[in-house]
Amino acid sequence: MRGSFITLEGGEGVGKSTNLEFARGHLAAVGKPARVTREPGGTALGERIRELLLDRRETGMVADTELLLMFAARAQHLAEVIRPGLERGEWIVCDRFTDATYAYQGGGRGVAAERIRLMEQWVQGTLRPDLTLLLDAPVNIGHGRAGRRGGEADRFEREEQAFFERVRTCYLQLAHAEPARYRVIDAARPLAEVQAQLGDALNDFLRTR
Ligand SMILES: Nc1ncnc2c1ncn2[C@@H]1O[C@H](COP(=O)(O)OP(=O)(O)OP(=O)(O)O)[C@@H](O)[C@H]1O
Ligand SMILES: [Mg+2]
Repeated sequence: MRGSFITLEGGEGVGKSTNLEFARGHLAAVGKPARVTREPGGTALGERIRELLLDRRETGMVADTELLLMFAARAQHLAEVIRPGLERGEWIVCDRFTDATYAYQGGGRGVAAERIRLMEQWVQGTLRPDLTLLLDAPVNIGHGRAGRRGGEADRFEREEQAFFERVRTCYLQLAHAEPARYRVIDAARPLAEVQAQLGDALNDFLRTR
């Protein structure tokens, strides 16, 4: 039987990486050990593409190049990790996936959604996440958290506020359009409350498997 593919989405600093571990622990506790991975990245080659995508010295990268690099990394990730894992019946939890491409390259950069849909069909065929957990919080809250984490701003983190507002709006529209796949989590709440919401969403999903 095919495994399950769960994705975590949301803007900068909302808590995706933190809650990836929570999700893994929650699933392990109910006998569903999951593999955690991330995009862009998740393979050796994909991580090298990620470095290019995040490198703030790449000031001239146009939106189509960014889109194609995202899907190049994704094609590798699907071939090496996601498809073989799902075929073995494994559970996979991924920090960002194609919804992030709609939100960032589409909503943020203004690439037409139709163009992204073509790439999605080409690279993924019919494969889509089974459950997408959208961590939603006002942009300034995520930025405040990411800022406290420290480190230098990457190529995306240097964008203006309006870019991230468009990203957030796009994510919420995606969730609205596909309520059966999406669960919107109020990520502005304290971590324990966010994780209670995530636990509920995972338990509801587990009942369908
Ligand atoms: N609900 C929460 N309340 C307060 N702080 C939180 C909450 N969730 C996460 N944090 C903290 O916010 C910071 C950012 O979290 P995290 O790195 O998980 O976000 P992210 O969504 O993965 O960010 P990025 O988009 O940059 O990858 C971390 O220091 C984390 O401990
Ligand atoms: Mg992260």
